[in-house]
Amino acid sequence: MSDVSDSEVPIITVDGPSGTGKGTICSYLTDWLQWNFLDSGALYRVLALAAQKREIVNDNEDALAELAENLNVEFKVAGGGSLVNVVLDGEVVTDEIRTEEAGNAASLVAPIVAVRKALLSRQKAFHKAPGLVADGRDMGTVVFPDATLKIYLTASAEERAKRRLKQLMQKGISANLRDLSASIAERDERDSTRAVSPLKPAEDAIIVDTSTIDIDAVVAKISELVVNKIPDLPNK
Ligand code: DC
Repeated sequence: MSDVSDSEVPIITVDGPSGTGKGTICSYLTDWLQWNFLDSGALYRVLALAAQKREIVNDNEDALAELAENLNVEFKVAGGGSLVNVVLDGEVVTDEIRTEEAGNAASLVAPIVAVRKALLSRQKAFHKAPGLVADGRDMGTVVFPDATLKIYLTASAEERAKRRLKQLMQKGISANLRDLSASIAERDERDSTRAVSPLKPAEDAIIVDTSTIDIDAVVAKISELVVNKIPDLPNK
């Protein structure tokens, strides 16, 4: 339960499937507002990695929940704002958790009720002054239902696959559009049809479709939403 002072600390939630520009928008908001940042997907990615390292299979829900409860993960701010190094058991795993495989592995542990429960208080702990930007799937629906502003980013699966391909090519990683589209569609399906905390917009979320507008236009639109909703921002 939030106390009075907590409830005065604003929260902006940014939910939606992967490839919609959530990461870019959250980095922008975090750097602009100088607020705290929760990358909830990174928690699920780290958990999946920690489970692989300990050879815990996805069927072993009790062991996964215990691991989630005791996960030795730190988010170390690296250079200010949204630049964060993810450290698991003392080892930097920032790049390791960013792969397509790590995203799929995260999506496979994410439906487990006890895992989500174990990660809940860890996520809520990011809610500190002067404010929080929270990136995920269920930030506006489950983790921060009283958030000040809820944004839900969406884009066509085809456009998201193209963006992902471009990102991978820029990193020198080869991939093909058809495989990427299939993998994205499979992950979307799993994330949005699971019984607990499925990917869906909160009833009071503002939906922004990024399929046909470039990232600068998305930033402009969201900045306007933030200024209108949170008028007394210190860093406008
Ligand atoms: O946002 P991401 O791609 O880093 O998330 C990886 C997976 O983690 C995603 O496919 C589903 C899961 N996830 C979740 O279930 N709930 C969240 N709030 C964030 C991520």
